[in-house]
Amino acid sequence: MDSFEVNKILGAVLGTLTFVLALSIGTGILFSAHAPEKPGYELPSPAEDAGAGGAVAEAPKDEPIAVRLASADPAKGEALTKQCVSCHSFEKGGPNKVGPNLYGVIGSKHAHIDGFGYSAAMKEKHGEDWTFEAIDDFLANPKTAIPGTAMSFLGIKKADQRASLIAWMNQNSDNPLPLPAAPAPGDAAAPADGAAPAGGAPAETPPAPGEGAAPAPGTPDQPAPAAPPAPAAPAAPQ
Ligand code: HEC
Repeated sequence: MDSFEVNKILGAVLGTLTFVLALSIGTGILFSAHAPEKPGYELPSPAEDAGAGGAVAEAPKDEPIAVRLASADPAKGEALTKQCVSCHSFEKGGPNKVGPNLYGVIGSKHAHIDGFGYSAAMKEKHGEDWTFEAIDDFLANPKTAIPGTAMSFLGIKKADQRASLIAWMNQNSDNPLPLPAAPAPGDAAAPADGAAPAGGAPAETPPAPGEGAAPAPGTPDQPAPAAPPAPAAPAAPQ
């Protein structure tokens, strides 16, 4: 092998390397990766929903199902069964699929279809009725409501959607349960009533003794409380 041939081989190797280098630079320009401005993913912050310090006194997030049923829309609920029909039929006498037929399930026992292959966890609850509360919990998150359930479904996070679905499911029955009487409207919202709407300052803070009845600066218009009674004289006559 003379040196000329060695040169040719080296040249070829070098040429290939140069080509690969050029290619990688070229693709680097085409497909440059930009680091995200903020690393990580945007997740909804639960603090925003908590209503802490919020200006609007909103009802607490998950009102009791008894309250939600009063404003539930069964027609919307029927549309939501789209999420269930791959595993459940809903019509009377419908077939069991991956999950049992669900006609008339509300108000009946857990594991209500004889002969369906329920999980041990579901069978264990056979003594309990599917009340509105029980089914609301279950549909919110099956795996936490009944650990060990065979229902592979993430759950319906929106409380008003669950209410609508439950309202429809209740009608889809020979014996619909009577709708629960909603608690008095004041009950759920009561804690919010007296809260100062601005700034999140606790409304309960009483005016410091000595300040009299003068409203603290920034306090929203509220009927001024009657002047507090003069503090009891500390020195009792002897
Ligand atoms: C991936 C399949 C699947 C989906 C989707 C699904 N389920 Fe289920 N479901 C099951 C299985 C399986 C069971 C039996 C659970 C067990 O034995 O633990 C079940 C059980 C139930 C039960 C209890 C039945 C009884 O006889 O006690 C109810 C109620 C129910 N599902 C409602 C729903 C609703 C409503 C939806 C839609 C929002 C839904 N499921 C979506 C598979 C599913």
